[in-house]
Amino acid sequence: MERPVVALVGARSRAERLLDKLSLSEKIGQLVLVDGADENVSQSLHRAVAEGRVGSVINEVDPLKVAKLQRIAREETAHGIPLLIGRDVIHGFKTIFPIPLGLAATWNEELVEACAKTSAEEAAHHGVNWTFAPMIDVSRDPRWGRIAESFGEDPYLTARMGTAMVRGFQNGTEDQLLSCLKHFAGYGASESGKDYDTTNIPEIELRNVYLPPFKACLDAGALTIMPSFSDLNGIPASGNAWLMRDLLRGEWCFAGFVVSDWCSIPQLAMHGVVENERDAALQAARAGVNMDMVGGSYATHLEALVENGILAPAVIDELVREVLTVKFEAGLFDSVPRPMRPTASPDQATSLALRAAQESLVLLKNNDGLLPFSADSGKVCLLGPLADQAYEQLGTWVFDADLSRSVSVKDAFAQRLGDRLSFDCVLKTSRDKSLAGLDQARQLARECDHVVLVLGEESILSGEAHCRADVGLPGAQASLVSEMSSLGKPVVVVVMAGRPLVISDVVREADAVVYAWHPGTMAGPAICNVLFGDADVRGRLPVSLPRAAGQIPIYYAHGHTGKPVTADTLVHIDDIAPGAPQTSIGNASFHLDVHPSPLFPFGFGLSYGRFLYKDLHLITAGAKGFEVAVNVANIGERAGSETVQLYTRDLVASATRPVRELKAHKHIRLDAGEHREVRFALTREDLKFFNGSEYVFEPGRFRVWVGADSTASLSLEVQLD
Ligand code: GLC
Repeated sequence: MERPVVALVGARSRAERLLDKLSLSEKIGQLVLVDGADENVSQSLHRAVAEGRVGSVINEVDPLKVAKLQRIAREETAHGIPLLIGRDVIHGFKTIFPIPLGLAATWNEELVEACAKTSAEEAAHHGVNWTFAPMIDVSRDPRWGRIAESFGEDPYLTARMGTAMVRGFQNGTEDQLLSCLKHFAGYGASESGKDYDTTNIPEIELRNVYLPPFKACLDAGALTIMPSFSDLNGIPASGNAWLMRDLLRGEWCFAGFVVSDWCSIPQLAMHGVVENERDAALQAARAGVNMDMVGGSYATHLEALVENGILAPAVIDELVREVLTVKFEAGLFDSVPRPMRPTASPDQATSLALRAAQESLVLLKNNDGLLPFSADSGKVCLLGPLADQAYEQLGTWVFDADLSRSVSVKDAFAQRLGDRLSFDCVLKTSRDKSLAGLDQARQLARECDHVVLVLGEESILSGEAHCRADVGLPGAQASLVSEMSSLGKPVVVVVMAGRPLVISDVVREADAVVYAWHPGTMAGPAICNVLFGDADVRGRLPVSLPRAAGQIPIYYAHGHTGKPVTADTLVHIDDIAPGAPQTSIGNASFHLDVHPSPLFPFGFGLSYGRFLYKDLHLITAGAKGFEVAVNVANIGERAGSETVQLYTRDLVASATRPVRELKAHKHIRLDAGEHREVRFALTREDLKFFNGSEYVFEPGRFRVWVGADSTASLSLEVQLD
């Protein structure tokens, strides 16, 4: 992979000059990040900063306290080195946008960049100048709670969304945040979807699936990166010299710095790769972790390790030089911190949150064009444990939200429908197993023309350390759907969740299904606008939805295998004749008891229009790559948005290649009856892959598909020499 363009030459020379003036203790202070929310820390924090023993603070967002800390760092220390003030601004600060998995469902880079820019502005007005985002772990296991924070299963889409977020955070204004790429690397492959668990990833998969988003985001200018908690092929990432020295600094020429995850340095002893915390500090420093996030290991052990001749001073100098370089590059020395400035009116942020929430919604089913509701939709019965949950709809990783601006589905429906709305949560929480409220719900539903159920997961059921082995609807929610569907009224189900859930029964029983992830502050108005047609529905799945948990991991870019399943070889368990002889069935890659396809494939989403793809043809093919064109027509009765997707397969290569890989996408919006030619051009660079020893483009035959999702059938073959 090419070297990043971000070299930081000027900042590095300024850092060099400053470094020469620092004592060993002051140098180590720059490698220490403390938790400002920790009572035991905050009481002595001013003195620690004044003595140069702390260089960064996390979780202090009181602008006046931050301003005081920065003033002490700038005016009461020997060298006036500004502090980095970090906060997890994962999908919003005061205004909450959809969880990253929902942002990914927009497939809209401009929108994601705008959300990050707005988040940066809100956080910067509280003194924050660094955030631990974007999280760009490719995630293919819905059991893993942190899939909620990811951009889903695909490296290309993750890279597009991640670079958009980096641009939004590092936007060049005084309200920018340093971004931090995490969790380096392969964290999404944690065994059995349990957080922090082992990851065993062959280099060929690491380099073709998990690393590309990190490289793309570094090339987009990200200057800090965070290793994962997990061990990577037996060496924990926080002590993995191959990852942080050979690959990150050696091969990619990364010129920024690495911050550990929360106490991930002392955890090296828990992993069992070192005897104690002192050795953990030694291994992490030698492996290239610049900064210790609240572990206390560097503050406690580094000075003695150097003074006893165990750790070379040059190692400390390099770690500190990189931190100072980033502080210079980020302009911290040049900008005068200004205490709490008036934040721009929240109206703009709120309307952006509405747009993002609307574009994140994915329409999975819409029988007989039930949606959008017509204006005279009659009485609506709104039910479900997440219909009136202004907090739960925000999703995971929310600390600073302005809850007063969060509008629930019930609030939005009440505003639109007035007395044409009846509401009952029926279940107290998404985990409530009691059906005591069912009779009341049936009665309300019978008096209405439509039933809308808002179900899924409370926010605490996804996110860090919140993994589930059973990824169905929790509690009695599935029973509620069945009961409501048996009443003969049109039933719309809206699913709010931090992961792909197994909802096969729900999809079978409901007339329409919308997947909403956790849409954030404006969840209510967004869902209302889309269901009633005031906003288009345009979300596309960033992850495959499994039919059953036993299919996990299930993702579209899988291997072809030497025995792929076909219609001829596929057999269902119920169709096997009694006494079947041993070799009479199977001999292909599938499960006997569930269809091999996902319930809904990656890239899928219905629109209010109806799109027809035809006339896919080659424009050019040659030394540089190829260009194709396709005609897309809206043959529906309503205008609609479409995300046109292009996938390729390298048919014969020196290593097995996925059956399809997303390589490009474009949004179009067509009026009813309108059609348009859409073109895509790919270069040989776009078709490179790691073959086990090097990144190569290999001439040969490629199949190209263009369509509405990863199962597109319209394709052609290209020969590239
Ligand atoms: C957490 C997470 C990481 C987060 C950090 C600071 O444990 O793993 O993603 O940025 O600690 O909150």
